[in-house]
Amino acid sequence: MVMETSTSNAPARPSGHTTATKHTHQHGILSFTSITIIIISVISILALLLVLLLVVMFRRLKSPKRNSNCKDISIINNTNSSSRFIAHTTINFTSSPDVKGGCLYGSNVVNRTSTSKHRGVQVFTYKELDIATDSFSEANLIGHGRFGVVYKGVLTDGTVAAIKKRHREGKQGERAFRIEVDLLSRLHSPYLVELLGYCADQHHRILIFQYMPNGALQHHLYNSNKQYPPLDWGTRLRIALDCARALEFLHEHATPSVIHRDLKCSNILLEHNYRAKVSDFGLAKMGSDKINGQISTSVVGTTGYLAPEYASTGKLTTKSDVYSYGVVLLQLLTGRVPIDTKRPSGEHVLVSWALPRLTNRDKVVEMVDPTLQGQYSKKDLVQIAAIAAMCVQPEADYRPLMTDVVQSLIPVVKNLFSAVSSSGSSRFQQHMSSSRY
Ligand SMILES: Nc1ncnc2c1ncn2[C@@H]1O[C@H](COP(=O)(O)OP(=O)(O)OP(=O)(O)O)[C@@H](O)[C@H]1O
Ligand SMILES: [Mg+2]
Repeated sequence: MVMETSTSNAPARPSGHTTATKHTHQHGILSFTSITIIIISVISILALLLVLLLVVMFRRLKSPKRNSNCKDISIINNTNSSSRFIAHTTINFTSSPDVKGGCLYGSNVVNRTSTSKHRGVQVFTYKELDIATDSFSEANLIGHGRFGVVYKGVLTDGTVAAIKKRHREGKQGERAFRIEVDLLSRLHSPYLVELLGYCADQHHRILIFQYMPNGALQHHLYNSNKQYPPLDWGTRLRIALDCARALEFLHEHATPSVIHRDLKCSNILLEHNYRAKVSDFGLAKMGSDKINGQISTSVVGTTGYLAPEYASTGKLTTKSDVYSYGVVLLQLLTGRVPIDTKRPSGEHVLVSWALPRLTNRDKVVEMVDPTLQGQYSKKDLVQIAAIAAMCVQPEADYRPLMTDVVQSLIPVVKNLFSAVSSSGSSRFQQHMSSSRY
């Protein structure tokens, strides 16, 4: 039995052995195949990733370089006007140009864009400006302001410029100087006075502006020494539209938006053809400083032009500029100054005197500047008075946006121009014929 068992079991051993050997061999083959597949897959994935990486790198190299520090890269083309906001510098509003070796160098500020018609802001030495103004001579003096003295000068390339030498005013003055350089290096509009350059040589802080041959609107409206002829109705409305466009540009097209904070007749300057441009950005504020839609700040500006909510609480919005604009519009309409204590009581403050009259069709005629008699149609007068009334509303929310003001003024100015061109000729007609709306 044992033998039998043994004999009968004998062939089973090699068979069992054979099975065991086969199994071991098959397992080895499978492992090798799996490993090979895994290795090939990993290599394929890596190769694919490498190709993708190369494609991405190639595309990046081909695309134009972007500067991550530049907040406002976009170029906004205004379809209604030729105002443009060109961020062709990389100035960050939180930083200002560096002072190096006694001169304020905005290395980015002086960059020029070949595609821009603006020459860019140049850095001048004090010596260059001393030569340009004949040592800041009395003969070249144009005017005095709160913050400095303005001279006429001729730059080395022959450009006539207005050179504003700021008073030394400590930290506040330094801040205003930097704001003006930073802002005007970025903002370009036909409705803003162009900054040509600046000088920060040692303690000097000087701004060089495009020269505006007809000076400030202030001097034309309150022309006591009869230096200028009185402004006609059409010219006044055209000036009103130019200023409205300047503010529309600052509020709606600049990014971040800008609040001028000191719009008034002495900061509205006139070209030889009486086209108006807004100047003086030393007090301006950026919309990016907003908290809950408004900026809390100390109250600066000029008495008579300050919106009531801003004057009483320091809360500043673009609607504060709209109020100041309304005061300018009232000045154009009435020929009065914002505050005049020499007038009878009840007429000292222009806005308080004008508001109840502006919406009264009979009374509105009585408030027009006497030098304008007969130049306007009552329909236009009523419309302009209504715009002024909206702008000087005591409640900021009731004041219009500057875009609305622009849109309301365009048809009035347009119709006036058509009427003037089909009748006689005037200064207004002459400059309207060379201008766009
Ligand atoms: N770019 C310019 N072109 C021609 N004249 C200018 C120019 N800038 C300023 N002026 C003249 O210089 C005068 C003084 O200007 P400035 O801005 O210093 O003071 P202001 O606007 O009159 O008053 P404030 O300092 O209170 O704002 C202006 O009234 C204007 O007549
Ligand atoms: Mg000024």
